[in-house]
Amino acid sequence: MTAARKRRLARLGIDVWVQRDVAAAAGTAAERDATATAVVPETAVAPNPPTRPPAAAASGAVVPAPPVAVAPAPDLPTVAGPGAVIAAAPIGAFGDWAPLEAAVAACTRCGLCATRTQTVFGTGARDAPLMIVGEGPGADEDASGLPFVGRAGKLLDEMLASIGHSRERNVFIANVVKCRPPANRDPATDEAEACRPYLEAQIALIQPKLIVALGRIAAQRLLATDQPLARLRGPLHHYGPGQTPLLVTYHPAYLLRSPREKAKSWQDLKGIWQRINGVPG
Ligand code: URA
Repeated sequence: MTAARKRRLARLGIDVWVQRDVAAAAGTAAERDATATAVVPETAVAPNPPTRPPAAAASGAVVPAPPVAVAPAPDLPTVAGPGAVIAAAPIGAFGDWAPLEAAVAACTRCGLCATRTQTVFGTGARDAPLMIVGEGPGADEDASGLPFVGRAGKLLDEMLASIGHSRERNVFIANVVKCRPPANRDPATDEAEACRPYLEAQIALIQPKLIVALGRIAAQRLLATDQPLARLRGPLHHYGPGQTPLLVTYHPAYLLRSPREKAKSWQDLKGIWQRINGVPG
């Protein structure tokens, strides 16, 4: 293990790289190290193998549109009052990033538009194999227009770095809703539904190999379920018309409050890395 990786894991609050349960079963230290290396090889911190086109676009860059069905920007009706639900726009109706961004920036589809400073579209590589979806912008995100910029965002970046990923290079980060819920309350089901066409359009454009839902609320809203996180975390789910594989893990804000769960989060991260890289679990 490299010193840099050790430092990263230490910042995540994880003392050792080796899975504790595997270590206990494995016996000698050498065997433990070998096991750990087999699970997540050192190449995990190197740039992803070119299983997709080169990452032409980091944050903010405009990438030539993949062959998503192009249609005129949808004429979305505005919402009558807070919480009203409007029928979903057809997937792919935005056609490309520019009309999609414009539609999000001008959105009045739910009551959250009344209290936002600005929309938080999402950020990252637009050909990313990994898409991270949180629940919704907080105060920092509402002020900056970028997702996950506070303390939780810093921890998220550390978590991603531990599996060789970053929002600049090979991750796209978005939220279930693009506007801040007042007083950081959970986004309501109807607000998530009003915003769903935007997220689905982002997924259609990016075509990630894997979506990771951060925390209970994001997972419940994405999967339209009220199951607890303990049930949602672990199994592989599928999302949306493209049935994109989806895993659920802890929200970094929860990990900041409950650092003891970081070890379990690390198990999830290894599973995420394995799935993206086609390594059998
Ligand atoms: N929490 C989220 O779920 N999303 C953000 O963008 C920031 C914090």
